[in-house]
Amino acid sequence: MKALITGITGFVGSHLAEHLLGEGIEVTGTMRSHSSLRHIRHLLPDMCLYECELMDAQAVERMMADIRPDLIFHLAAQSFVPLSWESPAETMTNNIVGQVHLLEAVRKLGLASKVLIACSSEEYGHVEEDEVPVKETNPLRPISPYAVSKIAQDYLGYQYFKTYGQHIIRTRTFNHHGPRRGEQFVSSNFAKQIAEIEKGLKPPVLYVGNVDAKRDFTDVRDVVRAYRMAMDNCEAGEIYNIASGQCHEIREVIRILLSYSTVDITIEEDKTRLRPSDVKVLVGDYSKFYEQTGWKPEIPFEQTMKDLLNYWRNE
Ligand code: GDD
Repeated sequence: MKALITGITGFVGSHLAEHLLGEGIEVTGTMRSHSSLRHIRHLLPDMCLYECELMDAQAVERMMADIRPDLIFHLAAQSFVPLSWESPAETMTNNIVGQVHLLEAVRKLGLASKVLIACSSEEYGHVEEDEVPVKETNPLRPISPYAVSKIAQDYLGYQYFKTYGQHIIRTRTFNHHGPRRGEQFVSSNFAKQIAEIEKGLKPPVLYVGNVDAKRDFTDVRDVVRAYRMAMDNCEAGEIYNIASGQCHEIREVIRILLSYSTVDITIEEDKTRLRPSDVKVLVGDYSKFYEQTGWKPEIPFEQTMKDLLNYWRNE
């Protein structure tokens, strides 16, 4: 069995590659010319890398003709919400057009690949208090350009399933974190700051943004297990939430991380970290996915936080 992971050099891509290789699946990953290999260097002897710009339709088609994958995990995207306000057009182009090229290549080559599209809980956007935990049927009320781009990816998947019968599975994954998480994302950013303070590289001040926000965090290692199970068990054309079902205020993330540190640290709001509009609460109902696959998250929130802090301590 051959799997293609778009965006393999990223946080989720590297964990997914490890997981698939562990199952004896042949793995090829796409990367951009300037991507760092640091998260996947240890896997390079066992997998193939393909330098491919998803904005280049012909390059995508050439790559797909070469690989002819059975499974495609489409992860490559601009995934940082704040960047989508700074560069809305780039976010739209990268996330939407890249996927169009991928699905067009599947269509033109007549491939029977199963495609998993990594959609996002950000698509739900503004959620009323009485709508949590959010089901797949909840209205989508996006409040960032990123969320709009993910809705487009989501519905493009639906359209290619309906129009061409492609085997497309759409997953709306809630926040996920763990070792190798990019330093711009909340828990990883705080863990990195704490590790740097412990090493004496920074004064003992933790800079934070909106600590009132509530999110549903799943460990990335549980998420990649879910993606693999989705390919075997989920129905084409359907949409599935992947979540922990638990709600954590961002101030709780800070409290737990600080409880693992012996250094005295004060907390300061950094106004540049506040967003033009921020989703207040996201908690997912993953019962549809559970019923289809039997998947449940296994790694406790506290364990992920410890692993994340240790990851930055060792960097
Ligand atoms: N990044 C960041 N940095 N966020 C902070 C900070 C900070 O210093 N302080 C508070 N926050 C708050 C944000 O305002 C937001 O409410 C929450 O923490 C989570 O922020 P992020 O970690 O940046 O994640 P996100 O929820 O915006 O988006 C992530 O999850 C989505 C799934 O719902 C990303 O991984 C997306 O790519 C993903 O689709």
